[in-house]
Amino acid sequence: MNRSPIIVALDYPCLADAVALARQLDPALVRVKVGKELFTREGPAVVEALQNLGFELFLDLKFHDIPNTVAAALKSAAALGVWMVNVHASGGRRMMEVASEAMASISSPPLLTAVTVLTSMNDQDLAEIGISAPAAEQVRRLALLAKDCGMDGVVCSAQEAPMLRDTCGDSFLKVTPGIRPVGADAGDQSRVVTPPDAVAMGVSHMVIGRPITRAASPTRAVAEIIQSLQSR
Ligand code: C5P
Repeated sequence: MNRSPIIVALDYPCLADAVALARQLDPALVRVKVGKELFTREGPAVVEALQNLGFELFLDLKFHDIPNTVAAALKSAAALGVWMVNVHASGGRRMMEVASEAMASISSPPLLTAVTVLTSMNDQDLAEIGISAPAAEQVRRLALLAKDCGMDGVVCSAQEAPMLRDTCGDSFLKVTPGIRPVGADAGDQSRVVTPPDAVAMGVSHMVIGRPITRAASPTRAVAEIIQSLQSR
């Protein structure tokens, strides 16, 4: 089984590009993530193509709807045989409870994680939609709720991981984007953390896109990240 904490974000517009990159990666060393852009265009075919290459796949569609609709969508995702799926924790208790019940009703279900507060949102954005709590407090509240509703973990920023380790425990998954290997370009990510620091902060899985997908050698980029984790 793949025990690597690395999930490569295949943020491409089409199946051919995603598969071309994936062919340069080793499914024993990384998992892959397919998001809304690629899945909306290519659908289950892209999931199948990547699985045929041997990859475990995080289908990052962040479902957020009424409980019945989310449960049905999750069952459709599970039927694709994906490794992880996710919802928005702000869909609330009933939505997440029904979601985890739906997963419990099938054999070998995917891991189910919840997005707490989008890291693109700051305290002012939250206030504008009627949430007066600071982002960190809202993250904590939603993570505890997600755990109580049977989620396997949350998607969060690495900065939040130590606090979530204290409140939700080590085994509650913390899946984190915004990771940049030492010396890599931060791009449009404003608060970045290196892979060894992320692990030290309690992150269980790191989502890494461009530092791998746009590297001159994606294979070497992965090897260097793994090396940095081993020597930490
Ligand atoms: O290329 P990069 O490493 O920045 O890619 C990060 C991936 O994580 C992208 O797929 C991006 O959409 C996703 N993501 C993020 N920040 C969040 C949530 C998801 O960058 N808060």
